[in-house]
Amino acid sequence: MKVIKVKDQVEGGKEALKVFKEALDNGVKVFGLATGSTPETTYDELVKSDIDFSNSISVNLDEYVGLKPEDEQSYAYFMKEHLFNAKPFAKSFLPNGMAEDADQECERYDKLLEEYHVGLQLLGIGRNGHIGFNEPGSSFDGKTHKVALTQSTINANSRFFDNEEDVPKYAYSMGIGTIMKSDTILLEAFGKNKAEAVKAMIEGPVTPEVPASVLQNHPDVVVIIDEEAASLLK
Ligand code: F6R
Repeated sequence: MKVIKVKDQVEGGKEALKVFKEALDNGVKVFGLATGSTPETTYDELVKSDIDFSNSISVNLDEYVGLKPEDEQSYAYFMKEHLFNAKPFAKSFLPNGMAEDADQECERYDKLLEEYHVGLQLLGIGRNGHIGFNEPGSSFDGKTHKVALTQSTINANSRFFDNEEDVPKYAYSMGIGTIMKSDTILLEAFGKNKAEAVKAMIEGPVTPEVPASVLQNHPDVVVIIDEEAASLLK
């Protein structure tokens, strides 16, 4: 893992922009994207930049079950607001949170991910070490699946909703096996509440109990962390 330490999240976004530019220069066509508060400054930088994604494809990591793309809390909406409205891709894909049949939806998304092999995958990390919505205990070989979110993830997500009861309890997520197939992985983590997960990911044993620790087995991972998220590292 290549670890880049930055002062704060704003600087992190600027570093991430360089990684995206390099990927485009190297001919990467398919970008795996994430939502949440972590990539926000990265998307701000991409939007401000002269990058052109009109010949690129995007595939997102995950989507809540039960939310329509127009729902302001859906990840489809988040991506439009933060990136796609300003920087449209040739094609953009997310799991369909309204799909009637979960198994079929997972199969559809896996086929799509086989067709569009991810060149650069952007990731955040949960406080419990999750990547995508692959919670502790998830298989390292996993494909797209419907996940029951853990209480800690539901609590963390409740800040975006008016009532905790409105926070979806399920999501579709790319599996760890698929994430690991990406050519390059860029993981970002900012803030003190990510420090333990970052330490476990980089310095701990590789274990399904810390899903992000699997990245130690990937040959091309860039980690961008701020001082607070790096504060427990040796
Ligand atoms: C989002 C995702 C999640 C988040 C993680 C961190 O698409 O896959 O794994 O990256 O929950 O969330 P934030 O960035 O809100 O702290």
